[in-house]
Amino acid sequence: MASEGKLYPTAAKYEPIKVEGLKEGDTKYWCRCGLSKNQPWCDGSHKGTAITPMKWTVPKTQDAYYLCACKQTKNEPLCDGNHKNAKEILGEQAVKCEDKNNHNKNCALCTRCGWNPNLEF
Ligand code: FES
Repeated sequence: MASEGKLYPTAAKYEPIKVEGLKEGDTKYWCRCGLSKNQPWCDGSHKGTAITPMKWTVPKTQDAYYLCACKQTKNEPLCDGNHKNAKEILGEQAVKCEDKNNHNKNCALCTRCGWNPNLEF
């Protein structure tokens, strides 16, 4: 169940995004809300949600990084495997959401549970 004060992101995908070509010291803004159309990066879609992107400095040059797109990782911005449970977690949160009567097509994201009108459970 959604706890008071916590903001819940939604899932852009239920799998990580492989990103190649990142260099040590690059600065990127990882989408934390799940609404960006430019995953895994921020495109400004979080505006109005109170969720902000994560500024990430690439720690080292390597062939590829697997960045979280389900937004359930505990190791932001990297995938930690939690996407395997993300669909179930978001579905349960939406069912228990105290604001579920306000879920509708005009709601971009319910930050009390992570529901959005395009989300598949
Ligand atoms: S995509 Fe989010 S933990 Fe893997």
